[in-house]
Amino acid sequence: MANVTVIGAQWGDEGKGKIVDWLASRADAVVRFQGGHNAGHTLVVGEQVYKLSLLPSGIVTGTLSIIGNGVVLDPWALKAEVEKLEGQGVVINTENFAIADNCPLILPIHGVLDGLREAAAGSGKIGTTGRGIGPAYEDKVGRRAIRVCDLAHLDALEPQLDRLCAHHDALRAGFGEAPVDRAALIDALKQIAPFVLQYAQPVWKRLNKVRKAGARILFEGAQGVLLDVDHGTYPFVTSSNTVSGTAASGSGLGPSATGFVLGIVKAYTTRVGSGPFPTELEDATGQRLGERGHEFGTVTGRKRRCGWFDAVLVRQSCAISGVTGIALTKVDVLDGFDKVKICTGYRLNGKVLDYFPSHAADQANVEPIYEEMEGWSGTTAGARSWADLPAQAIKYIQRVQELIETPVALVSTSPEREDTILVRDPFQD
Ligand code: GDP
Ligand code: IMO
Ligand code: MG
Repeated sequence: MANVTVIGAQWGDEGKGKIVDWLASRADAVVRFQGGHNAGHTLVVGEQVYKLSLLPSGIVTGTLSIIGNGVVLDPWALKAEVEKLEGQGVVINTENFAIADNCPLILPIHGVLDGLREAAAGSGKIGTTGRGIGPAYEDKVGRRAIRVCDLAHLDALEPQLDRLCAHHDALRAGFGEAPVDRAALIDALKQIAPFVLQYAQPVWKRLNKVRKAGARILFEGAQGVLLDVDHGTYPFVTSSNTVSGTAASGSGLGPSATGFVLGIVKAYTTRVGSGPFPTELEDATGQRLGERGHEFGTVTGRKRRCGWFDAVLVRQSCAISGVTGIALTKVDVLDGFDKVKICTGYRLNGKVLDYFPSHAADQANVEPIYEEMEGWSGTTAGARSWADLPAQAIKYIQRVQELIETPVALVSTSPEREDTILVRDPFQD
């Protein structure tokens, strides 16, 4: 049975949540495999709007939802999100929700360190979400993280805390901060432990079992390929691997489990936080894209930077992540533009490039080469079939697919779940 791995192919906020929700009713399990509550995935179902940061988007349809070991988990953020969604009528219980017991925790000290570093960096700041993501991943690879399974052994935590605090206290001292309040930390962990532990289990085992039974697994990526710690616009990236391959290592299934890699691609480009953005428009057109697309961050409420579609970046993301097909979202935001532009290459130091160079200074200096197309006066908003699209919008979609060398599998035409055009079913074997 085909599995599907959904990943963002730009700088995040491409509409992953909407597409995962649309696909979830046909999946047997939805799995988050990296990132943490830096993600903000928005689902619109009729009058209801759901904003998810940690919970897999499958939870809204009641599909088995799993947080894999590749995620960094803030237990307090999780509890708040579970309660918020339950308040919206979503059922979350030990039948339909599980957390990998080897998942590292985000602790309050991680958020503090994230904030201290960003404040000290001044204009060189990354523009993180302030959720402690980077420091938590650092502690994971530094082999000093507290993990979900440790919550069942808090009485034996002292040696681990020694290691963790030796590291953090030194860093904190550099910022003039007091050492970690260990008693308060243990107390807080003791209080939250029962809530987290009810869902904790070796999820690799459960996933392997459902897979053998023929289940369809839907992997839900967070962020986007251009924020990947290896392949993204380093150092202006997040601290996890966001590429499709992480679905395997971040869940406890082998690489063949990833199946159809569905890259989510916005019909233009946005970015939140600092870092290079070749097609950014700091003019009325950028403003118009932001207003029409409601481009404000789901997590931090920050205004997203906006620009034209960059085919060079998306072609690169699709290649790096082995994208089988894309879901092109927010095509409706381009409705009513007289002309639309697509970046097809870059100029750098008198040379033409067909890829995004690795060095930060080169990334900042490339000049986009544009191709201009006629816009469309008709509307794509709410279209549910290819035949409903204006001819010029079809031309735009076809040009995108040609330039990124990857076929379009889905088109999304509004925030609403059902306003989606199926071109090729990603679940089809
Ligand atoms: P994610 O992080 O990739 O899940 O994306 P976000 O939820 O952060 O941002 C995408 C925003 O666009 C959300 O507000 C969605 O409701 C909205 N959205 C998704 N698809 C479409 C679409 O096709 N058209 C329009 N107009 N909005 C969309
Ligand atoms: P979703 O899943 C957009 C960005 C931050 C910052 C950089 C590092 O909703 O697409 P971090 O807090 O991760 O250390 O911040 O990454 N960022 C996102 N941008 N969408 C996201 O998630 C993001 N998650 C992190 O703005 O530039
Ligand atoms: Mg988002």
